[in-house]
Amino acid sequence: MNLKNKIVVIIGGSQGFGAALAKCFIVEGSQVVIASKTKSRIEATASSIGAMPFVVDARKEDEVKKLAETVIKKFGAIDIWVNSAGVFKVFPKNELIDISRAHELFDINFFSTVFGSRTALLYMKEGGVIINILSSAALDATRAKNAELYASSKWAVRGYVEAFRAEVEDSGVGINVYSIYPGGMKTHLHDEALPKEFENFMDPHDVAQKVINNLKQDAPEQNLIIKRLKAEI
Ligand SMILES: NC(=O)c1ccc[n+]([C@@H]2O[C@H](COP(=O)([O-])OP(=O)(O)OC[C@H]3O[C@@H](n4cnc5c(N)ncnc54)[C@H](OP(=O)(O)O)[C@@H]3O)[C@@H](O)[C@H]2O)c1
Repeated sequence: MNLKNKIVVIIGGSQGFGAALAKCFIVEGSQVVIASKTKSRIEATASSIGAMPFVVDARKEDEVKKLAETVIKKFGAIDIWVNSAGVFKVFPKNELIDISRAHELFDINFFSTVFGSRTALLYMKEGGVIINILSSAALDATRAKNAELYASSKWAVRGYVEAFRAEVEDSGVGINVYSIYPGGMKTHLHDEALPKEFENFMDPHDVAQKVINNLKQDAPEQNLIIKRLKAEI
């Protein structure tokens, strides 16, 4: 796929992997809209990389639809939609689960992908690409020690995306659905609990470049696994 002049929407584009991917798309000549919840951050990132900012709480389907409507109004189409919003939360074993935090984890990691995918399907009238950022924890959860809820949320995403992809393929609407399974990346996702191996985690820009390289292939991998060298996950 030639990425020049493509209209790209990235939810979770204010920092980390989403911001790195936005930069890569801009280098390819795409027009990029980045969206996330924290107004000051999305605006600062957008102005530093040359993207358009949009404030959205990805846990709310009506706000996600408003994002799509705004992009269509401004650019006339959406070619590529990326679901990258995510959080990681720790739930200590010696405490009751803080259920509001657990719901928040699932609302962001799982429901933002559901809302993003459904919205993209509605607004991609002439086909397009939907890219979902999962995690290597959704391939092998036995390695996600002390991260059971995070891993479960990503397995839920995987189940949703696989069913959604099958349905979209059957319908023949010309939308390709890709899943990315990265290993550990050096981002703010880990602020709440810095993993021991954090220093050896991948640079999100390197991971983003691999996603771009895959998209530019004639037949991109539908399930792209991006592992750390010498790493378990
Ligand atoms: N880092 C890793 O090791 C790793 C590994 C595998 C997969 N992943 C996945 O990669 C994706 C990106 O994570 P990251 O590492 O780049 O983390 P990050 O640097 O913490 O970025 C997370 C992004 O999600 C956005 N976000 C969070 N809650 C939101 C909400 N309610 N509505 C809209 N946006 C929201 C944040 O926006 P705000 O600026 O508004 O907070 C931010 O842009 C996630 O799905 C994560 O699970 C990460």
